[in-house]
Amino acid sequence: MHDANFLIENNAKHFWHPMAHPAEMLKNPPKVITGAEGVGLTDVAGHKTLDAVGGLWNVNLGYSCQPVKDAITNQLNDLPYYSAFRGTTTGPIIELSYELREWFEPDGLVRAFFTSGGSDSIETALRLARQYHKIRGERDRTKFISIKKGYHGTHFGGASINGNANFRRNYEPLLPGCYHIPSPYLYRNPFYETDPAKLAQLCSAALEDEIKFQGPDTVAAFIMEPVLGAGGVIPPHASFMPLVRDICNRHGVLLIADEVITAFGRTGAWTGSRLWGVKPDLMCTAKAITNGYYPFGAVMISEKVVEVFESNKDAFGSIGHGYTYSGHPVGAAAALATLKETKRLKVNENAAVRGDELLAGCQGLMAKHDVIGDVRGKGLMVALELVSDRDAKTPSSKDVTASIFEGTYEAGVMVRVSGNTIILSPPLVVTADDVSKIVSALDAGLSTVK
Ligand SMILES: Cc1ncc(COP(=O)(O)O)c(C=O)c1O
Repeated sequence: MHDANFLIENNAKHFWHPMAHPAEMLKNPPKVITGAEGVGLTDVAGHKTLDAVGGLWNVNLGYSCQPVKDAITNQLNDLPYYSAFRGTTTGPIIELSYELREWFEPDGLVRAFFTSGGSDSIETALRLARQYHKIRGERDRTKFISIKKGYHGTHFGGASINGNANFRRNYEPLLPGCYHIPSPYLYRNPFYETDPAKLAQLCSAALEDEIKFQGPDTVAAFIMEPVLGAGGVIPPHASFMPLVRDICNRHGVLLIADEVITAFGRTGAWTGSRLWGVKPDLMCTAKAITNGYYPFGAVMISEKVVEVFESNKDAFGSIGHGYTYSGHPVGAAAALATLKETKRLKVNENAAVRGDELLAGCQGLMAKHDVIGDVRGKGLMVALELVSDRDAKTPSSKDVTASIFEGTYEAGVMVRVSGNTIILSPPLVVTADDVSKIVSALDAGLSTVK
């Protein structure tokens, strides 16, 4: 490993960072993170911060989870790779599929399809949804409907159902046949509705209207995050997902739950769908399935979809989809150890309690700092939306968000800035003291705003 000077000198010079402008990265090179322990990070200058981002919504158990590290090491020694394409398989994925079936049994999900991450899981679910209808002879059912402000990764399918122009317009034209409904976003919505239950009704009515407009026999699936994450942490009213489930049932449309962030405890429930009392037809997972230590994902499949595929007798049922790393044995071993620790530590319960504390702490900051226009969250997903004028809800400038980020970092906490929103998604093992530290560091960061 080269020394710190080498890292600083070459930072951002020879590769392009995801989700960033290359010129901006050259001008303002990113923080170089060189170490991590527990829920803390160390940068190249030796500065220590508490990671209120949790890696990228994935390091749910923190950075020192020895059982997961050991499982990866042991698997690398025993069998570092073998393919799961037709004809061969490996022990860890057989074992993991058994564990996942038990884990997702309350969600009615009984089979897994393994992937290398969130975007792959989305792509897989979209494809399986179309194929499900083709097997059943409803071959016009190819369209997808999703929510504005939703985030579903960056493959062409995922970008096409994505609800944010930043991830779409530079890559258009996208997949045809993808349509969007308004988001159940209380702070800003096209209905000017301030009652969350009424907003849930309006947004779900928009879904039904869109399905009828497109022709129900042309719609394959509706996809949603149970709590919208990267779009700015938008928890819908508890009635929204059940209303959506009912509409999908009535029109023969599959419901895909994008739980890349919410599966495995982040909302306070083991899945976001379970939080809202809904059983989806397909569920996309990734990220925390390996505690972020290995790129891996799984699409979970319901009994209803399984029945159609497994009883099929012609070529329509054959899955012409998969990745070299679908079911990677090292990823599967990491996932097995992660699931065991996740369950043992009951991190869902901690996420619920600490999440309430974090939300209350941030609401306290709102009383003190005019730059905060809205605070919202569910479990350990919390957002502060920043504005320069509370009445007009004018989004804060980049300079303001940058100053808050730097001030908070200097005070010992790493947060994530997305547009005019600060997103908090710490590991699910944070303590009450960690939460206090996040809130007081944010207070320091917010105090830099003149
Ligand atoms: C809800 C959701 N879906 C899909 C993805 C894409 O996952 P990945 O970045 O692992 O491809 C993300 C990533 O943050 C996500 O938050």
